[in-house]
Amino acid sequence: MPTPAAELDIPVIPLLADAKREERQKLLRDTAKQSWLARTEIGYTVLTYETVMGILRDKRWHSAAGLVSELKGIKDEEFLANRRVSILSAEGDVHVRLRRLVAPAFSPRSADRLRPFMRETVNGLVDAVAPHGRAEVVRDICEPYPIPIICELLGAPKEDWQSFSVWATDVLRVFSDTVAQETKIIMKARNELNEYSRTLIEQRRNVPLDDLLTDLINAEEAGDKLTTEELETMVEAIIVGGTDTTRNQLGLALALFAQHPDQWDMLRNDPSLAPRAVEEVMRFSGAVGGTIRFASEDIEYNGVLFPKGTFMSASMSSGNFDESVFTTPETFNIMREPAGHPHMSFGAGIHYCLGASLARAELQESFNVLAARMPKLALGGDITFKPTGVGIFGPASLPITFEAGH
Ligand code: HEM
Repeated sequence: MPTPAAELDIPVIPLLADAKREERQKLLRDTAKQSWLARTEIGYTVLTYETVMGILRDKRWHSAAGLVSELKGIKDEEFLANRRVSILSAEGDVHVRLRRLVAPAFSPRSADRLRPFMRETVNGLVDAVAPHGRAEVVRDICEPYPIPIICELLGAPKEDWQSFSVWATDVLRVFSDTVAQETKIIMKARNELNEYSRTLIEQRRNVPLDDLLTDLINAEEAGDKLTTEELETMVEAIIVGGTDTTRNQLGLALALFAQHPDQWDMLRNDPSLAPRAVEEVMRFSGAVGGTIRFASEDIEYNGVLFPKGTFMSASMSSGNFDESVFTTPETFNIMREPAGHPHMSFGAGIHYCLGASLARAELQESFNVLAARMPKLALGGDITFKPTGVGIFGPASLPITFEAGH
C-alpha cells in the first residue's frame, strides 16, 4: 500500500522569499542528500536526478505553466479568460499534435542556419564596448542578444526589432512577482504581438521565405496544419520560451567565467570546447532551476500516493548536482568528461525544451566571440542577481572588465 504523501515525515523547504539563490540551492541540494522528496509552500518537490527525471517523464503529471497566473493570485477575469493553450501548457493529444507539427522547424540544422547571424549579432554588440575594456554585460550584451535572433528566425524585419523587444519584455511580466498589477500591460502586449504575427503570417502565406514562420505555415502531417490562431500562439510561446531564458543563461555564464579565469582561457585557446562549456555552464548554473507540475489524477510514485491536484516542483538545479550522477558536482569544469547523463536544465520528457538546439547554438557562438574579444575577463564590481522565485533566474547587472581593443 502506498503511503499518502500528507502522512510522510519529510523535510520542509521554507519559502525563503528573500534568500539568495545560492542559499536556496544549497538548502535543496543538502536536503536531496537525505530525502528525494520535500514539502514546499504549495506542494512537494523532487530533488534527485532520478526522481526529477521520473516526474518530468511521467505523463500523469501535467504542466502547471497555464496555472502560473492563478498561483500568483491573479483575479482579473478578462486576463484569465484570454489565455490560450500553448505548447508550454498543452497535454495529451493536443500537445503531441503541436509538437509533431513544429519539431522539424526546430531541428539542429535549422539552428545551424542562424550561426553566422548569431556571430554577427554578438560582434556588433561587442564592437560598442571593446575599445573601453569594460561593460555592464547584462545591459550591453545579454539583454539585446536574443531579440534579433528570434526576429531573424521568425522572419521579422530589422525595423521591427524594437517593437519585439518591448512586447517580449511585457509578455514576460507574467513571470514577475508584480504580475497582478501588470495584467493590463501584458494583455496590451499580447494583443499587439498577435496582431503583428497575423500580418506576418498573411505575408508569408502569400510569399513564402526561408524562415521559421514559413516552415511553421508549411508544417503538415497527414493533412493537418496549424491554424492562424495556433501560429500566433506559437510565436508568443517562442518569445516567452526563447528570449529571457537565453539572455539570463548567457549572463550566468559570464558571471561564472569572470570568476573562473582559467576556464575562460581554456575556451579562448580552444574554441572547439564551446559545446562542452555550454553544457557545463547549464549544469552548474541553469537559468531555469525548476519547473512545476500538478497531478492530473491520483498518482502512486515511488511508494507514495499523491492526490489529484497536488503541485510538484521538479528541481533540476538540485538534480544537476546529484553526486551519484556527476562526480565532484560542486566543481565548475568545462573539461568535465561527458558522464553519459545530460544536465537537466532544458527539462525532460514531453516538454523538453523545443528551442534547445537553437539555445545551444546561440550560447556556443556567443561564447567563442566573447572569449576571443574579451581576454582577461574579470568582475568590474558587484554582481546583482534578480530575485529568486518561480521562473527564470540570472544577473540583473554584471559589471566586467577585460583587455580592450580586440
Ligand atoms: C538557455 C536557454 C533556454 C533554457 C534554459 C530553456 C529551458 C527550458 C525548459 C526547462 C523547458 C521545459 C519547461 C517545463 O518542462 O515545464 C523549456 C521548454 C520550452 N522551451 Fe526552452 N529554454 C531555453 C531556450 C529556448 C529557446 C531559444 C526557445 C525557442 C526559440 C525555447 C522554447 C521553448 C518552448 C516552446 C518550450 C515548451 C516545449 C513544450 O512544452 O513542448 N526555449 N525550455
